[in-house]
Amino acid sequence: MTLLKIENLEVKTEEKKEILKNINMNINSGEIIILFGPNGSGKTSLLKSIIGLPNYKKTKGRILFNGKDITEKKPNEIQKEGIALAFQNPPEIKGVKLKEIISIISKNSVEAMHAVEELKLKKFLERDINVNFSGGEKKRAEILQLLLMEPKLLLVDEPDSGVDIESMKLLGKKINDYVKKKKASAIIITHQGEILKHVKAKKGYVMLDGEIICSGNVKKILRSIKKNGYERCMNCKMLIKK
Ligand SMILES: Nc1ncnc2c1ncn2[C@@H]1O[C@H](COP(=O)(O)OP(=O)(O)OP(=O)(O)O)[C@@H](O)[C@H]1O
Ligand SMILES: [Mg+2]
Repeated sequence: MTLLKIENLEVKTEEKKEILKNINMNINSGEIIILFGPNGSGKTSLLKSIIGLPNYKKTKGRILFNGKDITEKKPNEIQKEGIALAFQNPPEIKGVKLKEIISIISKNSVEAMHAVEELKLKKFLERDINVNFSGGEKKRAEILQLLLMEPKLLLVDEPDSGVDIESMKLLGKKINDYVKKKKASAIIITHQGEILKHVKAKKGYVMLDGEIICSGNVKKILRSIKKNGYERCMNCKMLIKK
């Protein structure tokens, strides 16, 4: 069953700069898909547009979630529908402790503390969110918050960037277990594909200059990118299976 459907989406910034064009995507319940693309190709903008951040104006097309049109909904409404985003660069929030946000967003405090322990975040509970956290600590705190919101669709922006091998294993396992247990879906952005060692994903998409230029078997795509770079993707018809 289709959970998220994106049809002919075009997005411009407040300054009328076009950052996404003609985006079409289909994500089924229980499916993890992987999004590749060089720096500045529009991957983060796509996730921010799905979650409805205000500086990303949808000028064409629509987004359907569970069959419902969420194109014009606000981030808090979209979150309530069951979509949550783990940021590539999570902001520092001075004056709000990690334990405070956890108690606000979590539905089950026992499970929440279990997740805190698993992600090795106990000693950060009394600290302001992300303030002076290391890069990897920020990623762990971000994934913790993402999972505690219990979304049906997880949007995960580069969980494997700047994260050591042990933490990567931990984060990947938590994401994969969650998706399996809740029959949730996920869009995960990655450059090096490290996360693929820990999550079960079959389909990948490649973005270039704000457009999805191909989709297909995730392992084949990664192999091709590592071997040939993104130039080859421009001409790659083989993988297109839209
Ligand atoms: N709010 C915005 N206002 C103006 N330009 C923006 C905005 N958001 C993104 N952009 C621009 O759109 C392009 C795509 O940015 P985006 O962050 O989506 O890239 P990305 O594919 O996630 O790259 P990376 O791999 O470096 O994270 C970039 O050129 C960026 O500068
Ligand atoms: Mg990005």
